[in-house]
Amino acid sequence: MAKVSILGAGSVGSTTAQVLAYRDICDIVLWNRTEGKAKGIALDIQESAPIAGFDHAVVGTGDLKDIKGSDVVVLTAGAPRKEGMSRDELLKTNASVVKPIAERVKKHAPKSKLIVLTNPLDAMVYLAKKVTGFRKECVVGMAGVLDSARFRTFIAGELGVAPSSVSAMVLGGHGDSMVPMVDTATVNGVPIGKLLSKSKIDAIVERTRNAGAEIISLEKESSAYYAPASSLVAMVESILEDRKEVHPCAAYLNGEYGISGIFMGVPVVLGSGGVEKIIEMKLTGGEAAALKKSAENVRAQAKQIDSIL
Ligand code: 2OP
Repeated sequence: MAKVSILGAGSVGSTTAQVLAYRDICDIVLWNRTEGKAKGIALDIQESAPIAGFDHAVVGTGDLKDIKGSDVVVLTAGAPRKEGMSRDELLKTNASVVKPIAERVKKHAPKSKLIVLTNPLDAMVYLAKKVTGFRKECVVGMAGVLDSARFRTFIAGELGVAPSSVSAMVLGGHGDSMVPMVDTATVNGVPIGKLLSKSKIDAIVERTRNAGAEIISLEKESSAYYAPASSLVAMVESILEDRKEVHPCAAYLNGEYGISGIFMGVPVVLGSGGVEKIIEMKLTGGEAAALKKSAENVRAQAKQIDSIL
């Protein structure tokens, strides 16, 4: 029986547990340092089983030993962004949350594939890899799936077409320097440059870059969690069911795209082996320059992590 552990029962963690439970593909352990919170949310989700139509177990716990035997561990614990805050400002606070949890993942679920969501994402997934010592294929960050979903949603909205008909990726770091890939964005194979004016595309790119902040400015009390949770579930499914779907994810780069030693958003094949392959595509001069700039920002964060460890 497949088992997935979700660490952190905040808005993203609990919504991920619910969306994943509805897929009915694995048992779920929801961990939170406040045990009652994890147990209460898990029980609430479990009690929806007869109505939602799933048979797998959803169990809450405050003890990280219960993640033993997990196929996939999803790390969502940490403070979310507040209005006016950049993701980078969370680095020290969330490093102190992620580090001890990653140590316990190494101890209790050494064979798992680890997906990290905590912000600043590219730095936290780098930290998790360093602390666990897991192979690079087994640690991956969730950001590109979310940023790309937003990009696709905005393109679809502008054109009045189904979001599922839009194929588009956002690469690079999960921050202000993220790189929405315009030239490869298509509507059922038709490049968006043939369908939309440059000014409309520029506006969509800008909105995509600010999409996380847009949600915070509207909600005030919370950052995004429905789309992040759906993105995590897409990654979990591709790994658990060995689907080999191509998703933009923060993967450890070892020379791909001319970059080494950091995690950054690139297209990858996700299967039972984790990050089974990084897909390298030819970039235009502008895309290569944007990715390089994004990599510099991410590398600066990785250096901060190195100085903390
Ligand atoms: C977002 O982009 C919070 O980073 C998260 O919504």
